[in-house]
Amino acid sequence: MRPLLLLAILICFHCVLRKGFCSSEQDKVLSITAVTQEQVILLQNISSHNETTLWQPASPSYITENTPVHLFVQSSSVTRVTELLNTHRFSFSVLLENTQQLIQEQTRNITTDPKSGGMTYERYHSLEDIYYLINKTSQEHPDMTKLILIGSSFEKNPLYLLKLSGRRGPVDKAMWMDCGIHAREWISPAFCLWFIKYAVIFYKENPDITAMLDKMDIYILPVMNPDGYKYTWTTNRMWRKNRSVREGTSCVGVDLNRNFDANWCTAGASSNPCSDIYCGQYPESEPEVQAVTKFLRAHKDSIKLYFSMHSYSQMLLFPYSYTHDQIPNHSELFDLVKEAAVKIRRHYKNVYHFGSGAKTIYLAPGGSDDWAYDQGILYSFTFELQDRGRYGFLLPPNLISVACNEALAAVKIISMRVLEKLHE
Ligand SMILES: *[C@@H]1O[C@H](CO)[C@@H](O)[C@H](O)[C@H]1NC(C)=O
Ligand SMILES: *[C@@H]1O[C@H](CO)[C@@H](O)[C@H](O)[C@H]1NC(C)=O
Ligand SMILES: *[C@@H]1O[C@H](CO)[C@@H](O)[C@H](O)[C@H]1NC(C)=O
Ligand SMILES: *[C@@H]1O[C@H](CO)[C@@H](O)[C@H](O)[C@H]1NC(C)=O
Ligand SMILES: *[C@@H]1O[C@H](CO)[C@@H](O)[C@H](O)[C@H]1NC(C)=O
Ligand SMILES: *[C@@H]1O[C@H](CO)[C@@H](O)[C@H](O)[C@H]1NC(C)=O
Ligand SMILES: [Zn+2]
Repeated sequence: MRPLLLLAILICFHCVLRKGFCSSEQDKVLSITAVTQEQVILLQNISSHNETTLWQPASPSYITENTPVHLFVQSSSVTRVTELLNTHRFSFSVLLENTQQLIQEQTRNITTDPKSGGMTYERYHSLEDIYYLINKTSQEHPDMTKLILIGSSFEKNPLYLLKLSGRRGPVDKAMWMDCGIHAREWISPAFCLWFIKYAVIFYKENPDITAMLDKMDIYILPVMNPDGYKYTWTTNRMWRKNRSVREGTSCVGVDLNRNFDANWCTAGASSNPCSDIYCGQYPESEPEVQAVTKFLRAHKDSIKLYFSMHSYSQMLLFPYSYTHDQIPNHSELFDLVKEAAVKIRRHYKNVYHFGSGAKTIYLAPGGSDDWAYDQGILYSFTFELQDRGRYGFLLPPNLISVACNEALAAVKIISMRVLEKLHE
C-alpha cells in the first residue's frame, strides 16, 4: 500500500471515530502538569473558562508548577483544550475517559433498578433519600437517636441533624460531624450515613463506638449544603458551592467552607462571585453556615470534638488553614492524625497525608474547622476522603465501603484518644 493512501485511510478512520460511529468525544477529566510559569498562567486561564471545571486544586489561583492539576473538560471542548495543551507542550494524561457513564452508574434509580437492591449504604443517595433514611433510623432507634431541625437552606431545604446517644443518662460531652459542605463530594454524605448505621448497629458490640456513645452525644449533619447537593443530582455533577443568587452577578453560589468567620476572605479565598472559592458577601452570610454556627455556639461548652468530611485527596487535617502559624497544641493534634493515618495504612494499605491545613494543602481562610477551633473546640479536624485522583469526585459505589471503613477507623481512634485525654 502506498504511504499516501495509507495516510488517507487512517485520517478517514480517525474521522469516523470522531464523528461518533465508534465513540463521539465525551466529557473527560485530564491530569495536567505545568512546568513553567508561562504554562501556569495558561492553565489558570484554561481552567477559568466555564466549559472546564477544576477538580484539583479548588481554584485556578492555587495552580503552581509541577503539581498535577485535575481538570474536567466538557465534551464539546475536549478537542479545543487538548489541542491547546499540545500546542503549548504541556504534559498531560486522561484520568477519566467517560465521566457520563460513571455518573449514570452512581445515580441509577434505586426503586426501579433491581440490581441496586440490598446494600443501602454502598450506594449514593439523593437528598430525598437521605432525609428518608435518617428519619427512618430515628424512628427505628428512638432510644438512641433524635432528629433535630437546625435551620434551612437558601432554597428552604431543611437542615436535619441526627443526635446519637448511648442508652444512658445525660452526659456533658459531645462530638460534632458534618458532611456535604461541598456539593460534589458525594462520598462525604455517604460517610455520615455509614457512621450513623454503624453506630446504631454496633453500639454494645464494638467497644470503641460503645465508649464514644456512652461518654458523648454525637451530632451528625449528613448534608450541610442540601441545595448544592440536590443540584449535583439534577443538573451539574461538578458543582461545589451553595446555590444562592444575588443581584449584580449572574454567578451563583458561595463556597460554604470559605464563609465562616475565621480570617474571612483573606488569601486563599476569593471575593469574585464567579469563583469556586467565593467567600460570600460577609462572614456567615449563608443560612447554612448561620444554622451550623448558631448550633455550635449554643453547644460549645459540651462539644469537644469537631469533624468535617470532604473529598478527595486522602488527608487528615487540623487547624490552621487560614495561616501558616501553628496552633498552640500543634504537636498534640499532629500525633492524633498521624496515629490515625498509620492505622489506615496498616489495615487498608491506603496512604493518607496528615498535618495542619495550610501546610498540607494551601491557605484556605473561612473554613469550618478553623472557626470551630477558635471557638474553643480544640480537637477540630477536616478529613479529605478517597481517593487520590483515580476517580476523584466520581468515586464508584463499590469503593464506598472501603472509603467509609477507613474514615471510620480514623474517627474512632482520634475520638478514643481524645476521650482518654479528657478523663485524665
Ligand atoms: C485567557 O486568554 C484569552 C486569550 O488570550 C483572553 O482573551 C482571556 O481574557 C483570558 N482569560 C482569562 C480569564 O485570563
Ligand atoms: C459560559 O459563560 C458565558 C458567559 O458568561 C455564558 O453565556 C454561557 O452560557 C456559559 N456556558 C455554560 C455552558 O455555562
Ligand atoms: C425513581 O423511580 C420512581 C418510580 O418510577 C419514581 O417515582 C422516582 O421519582 C424516581 N426517583 C428518582 C430519584 O429519580
Ligand atoms: C418521618 O417519618 C414519619 C413516618 O413516616 C413521618 O410521619 C414524619 O413526617 C417524617 N418526618 C420527617 C421530618 O420527615
Ligand atoms: C448561598 O450563598 C448566598 C450568597 O451569600 C446566600 O445568600 C445564600 O443564602 C446561600 N445559600 C445557601 C443555600 O446557603
Ligand atoms: C495543650 O494541651 C495540654 C495537654 O496536652 C493542655 O494542658 C493545654 O491546655 C493545651 N493548650 C491548648 C492551648 O490547647
Ligand atoms: Zn470539600
